Order: sequence, then C-alpha cells, then structure tokens
Amino acid sequence: MSCARSRTAPGSAARRCSGGSSEGSGWSGRRKAGSRRWTPATARISPAERAFRSNPCGERKIAEGFARTGIPGTREERESVEKRVASWEKLRQDTLKRLGPEAVFGEGSPDARVAIVGEAPGYNEVRQGRPFVGRAGKLLDELLAQSGIEREEVYITNVVKIRPTREKGGRTSNRPPRVGEIREGMEALLKELELIEPEVLILLGNTPARALVGKSFAMTKHRGTLFRSVTGTPAVATFHPAYLLRQEGEDYRRVRRLVLEDLAAARRALEEEPELHELE
Ligand code: URA
Repeated sequence: MSCARSRTAPGSAARRCSGGSSEGSGWSGRRKAGSRRWTPATARISPAERAFRSNPCGERKIAEGFARTGIPGTREERESVEKRVASWEKLRQDTLKRLGPEAVFGEGSPDARVAIVGEAPGYNEVRQGRPFVGRAGKLLDELLAQSGIEREEVYITNVVKIRPTREKGGRTSNRPPRVGEIREGMEALLKELELIEPEVLILLGNTPARALVGKSFAMTKHRGTLFRSVTGTPAVATFHPAYLLRQEGEDYRRVRRLVLEDLAAARRALEEEPELHELE
C-alpha cells in the first residue's frame, strides 16, 4: 500500500456556484471554486445549489425544489442542473433498456458529495426498483443517520444492477455476482459517478471495493483506509450491512463499531484534504 497526497477532488468548479446566502450542515459543505481545500459547510452557497441540495434526483423534484424555495437561480445555473439531470435520466433509461426492466439503477441527490456503492440489488430492491430498501437498506439508513449523514444527501447505487440469483429446492436466493455481471454493471456505474461527481465514495463490501479500488482489496486489512479509486475519487470501504446483519452479540457490536468508524473516516475526507493510498 503506497501513499499519495490527494489530487483536486472531482467536484468541478464549473458546477459549483458562488454567492447567495449561507446555509448547511457540516456534511454538506462544498469546495470553493478553484480551491484544493474543502470549503466548510457554512460557506456561502447559491440559491440554485440550495434548491439542489434539498432535492433528490429527477427533473420534477428539482423544479419543485426551485418552486418551494421560491429562488430560481440564474438561467445558467438552472441550465447546468437540467443538463446533468437530463444526462442522468438518459443513462438510467438506456441502462434499463440494456439490462431489462428488473434492473435497479442508482438514486439520490444529483449534487451528492457522497456516493454509496453496494454490491447488487436483492428481492426487495427489484420489487421496488430502488437500491437498499430491504433489511440491509434499513440498517444502512440507521448507520448513516447515526453518522450524521442524511440519505437524501447522498447518491446510492450498486456495482451490479440485476439481482444475481440461484435456484435450489424450488427456492430462489441471492448469490455472489459473477465477473461478467460486475463488468456489465461497471459500464453504467462509471457513467453514474462521472455525472454525480461525488467527492468521496463509500464502498459496501468486497465487490465494490475490488471493482473500484483494486482486485487485491481485503476488507479486514484495508477497511477504513482512504484509497484513490479507479475514478480518481477518494474511497473508503467498509463491511456490507448484510454482513453486519449476520453477526450476533459481541461480534455484531464490534463490526457495527467498525462500520461507524469507517463512515466517520469518509465524512472527515470531506472536511480535510485527504491523504490517499493506492493498492499495489
Ligand atoms: N445489498 C446491496 O448490495 N445492494 C442493495 O441495493 C441491497 C442490498
């Protein structure tokens, strides 16, 4: 494992606006245009960005956000939001067309500073067409809340977009994704991350960690460490909530503590210039 100073984070200055009134929690602070330092949450943000932050993905939601705040932003700001949301929507529709109607695409704020990447959807996710809505998702929401992270502020997605299943004794159950499925999912995932431009990735489990940090990633050894991911974005991996659900008693408490530590490391990466490691 070698160490390197952070590059400039991928949140492009062009997309971030300046001016307007101040608002925001520690979690949602933004970098100043052209700066290599993280802008504290209390930095001034534009009305368009404020509307953006208070809205999950979707043009309609963003339009509602502008209406609700009563602050439309400049035409340039609106166009930039609309363009990115339109590209995201096209990618979503193309992916569903390519992979089928049971594919589960990512969701969340188009301006998220944090993207959470899981392995693959399960039964409940396919039924609802949304990532992390089953038992593991509920636990994830709880862990995020405990870490001071609002689900509405993040973008949540998976490496694999289709539920990998196996049949046994007339029962359908989940199975680990195959290499080809991971490759297929990565095609969409890399484009999603390019559009969202998060400043930090939280990788849940070995599948996203190996796909985005490196094949030699080992959870017990590398969890909680800030790596430079293949997209260039800082990434922290931690245990998958489904793994945590399988633990009991003291093991459950220990793993839960570790996950919370790792989420705190991701959060710190937004507030300080992070030191990034690379897997050899
Ligand atoms: N597990 C995952 O990795 N992703 C989901 O969306 C749900 C469960």
